Amino acid sequence: MVHADVPSPIDLRLMSDALEWERTAMQRPFREEFFSAFISQLVALGKPNLKILELGSGPGFLAQRVLGVLPTASITLLDFSAAMHELARIRLSNLVERVEFVERSFKEPDWQVGLGHYDAVITNQAVHELRHKRYAEQLHRQVRTLVKENGIYWLVITMQAKVLCRIMSSI
Ligand SMILES: C[S@@+](CC[C@H](N)C(=O)[O-])C[C@H]1O[C@@H](n2cnc3c(N)ncnc32)[C@H](O)[C@@H]1O
Repeated sequence: MVHADVPSPIDLRLMSDALEWERTAMQRPFREEFFSAFISQLVALGKPNLKILELGSGPGFLAQRVLGVLPTASITLLDFSAAMHELARIRLSNLVERVEFVERSFKEPDWQVGLGHYDAVITNQAVHELRHKRYAEQLHRQVRTLVKENGIYWLVITMQAKVLCRIMSSI
């Protein structure tokens, strides 16, 4: 028996919902701790010109921190919401030369095709948007094809106030 996807009370592709999410996002628990943890992992790679992919990048909060700390890094922001990309473009307006925006759903069968390879794939509080765990294995397999040798895949998922943090290094 296949269970139905968990419905979402909001549609982050709508500008009204994207704006409301952006307004309250930094009040959510553990954000600062996780941002610091992401940055520590990226710094620990010890490489200049890091090429990073962020999945479900939203209004660009994490990208802003990452690019602020790593002045030679570049980041590809993948999100299915044009509204979220619009908010991220505003937040990252002084960093645009190091940012690429990709409007795509990480639930599509071939979303990873043509993206290239990255030193790090990162995603914060977005993978729960798969809306059912049966999609998760495919997503992780797709990410694996994008990570360079000795690269990292850093994933933070928040579900119902419980936080799961998983590090997969050297995949
Ligand atoms: C809860 S927000 C988190 C945003 C950002 N990661 C952060 O922590 O600030 C989830 C993000 O995932 C995006 N998203 C949801 N489903 C997606 C999908 N299937 N493909 C790509 N992005 C998706 C939403 O548009 C939204 O920007």
